[in-house]
Amino acid sequence: MGGKGIVGIDARLAQDGIEVRVLDDGVGMSRETLAQAFDPFFTTKTDGLGGIGLPMVQRFVRDAGGTITIESEPDIGTTVALRLPAVARAAGEVTSEHSQDESGR
Ligand SMILES: Nc1ncnc2c1ncn2[C@@H]1O[C@H](COP(=O)(O)OP(=O)(O)OP(=O)(O)O)[C@@H](O)[C@H]1O
Ligand SMILES: [Mg+2]
Repeated sequence: MGGKGIVGIDARLAQDGIEVRVLDDGVGMSRETLAQAFDPFFTTKTDGLGGIGLPMVQRFVRDAGGTITIESEPDIGTTVALRLPAVARAAGEVTSEHSQDESGR
């Protein structure tokens, strides 16, 4: 956010799931930055250390079957929207995907 602005988080029920948005009124992104924002290790931090946050979140969201989008305007701010599918699951039920993860296989 370039050291300025306020971050907010909201969530709402959407079609087939939930939408979580992280919004700020910080520095925003140029068109060029926005185009690369999900690229691993792409960062505009001055020490060059970064570029992990957005690709990691994109990976989590995709693994969950969701989608992520960014809207950003320089000097106006940024909104990152995560749309995650709702899953109806009985209490105690574990999917095969989860049991594989937990056993490390
Ligand atoms: N909320 C934001 N406002 C403005 N620019 C942003 C925002 N979030 C990300 N960016 C831009 O996208 C780039 C990549 O973001 P990403 O979160 O992947 O890495 P990072 O913030 O640089 O480092 P970190 O790995 O600590 O998150 C940032 O360096 C910045 O240029
Ligand atoms: Mg980041």
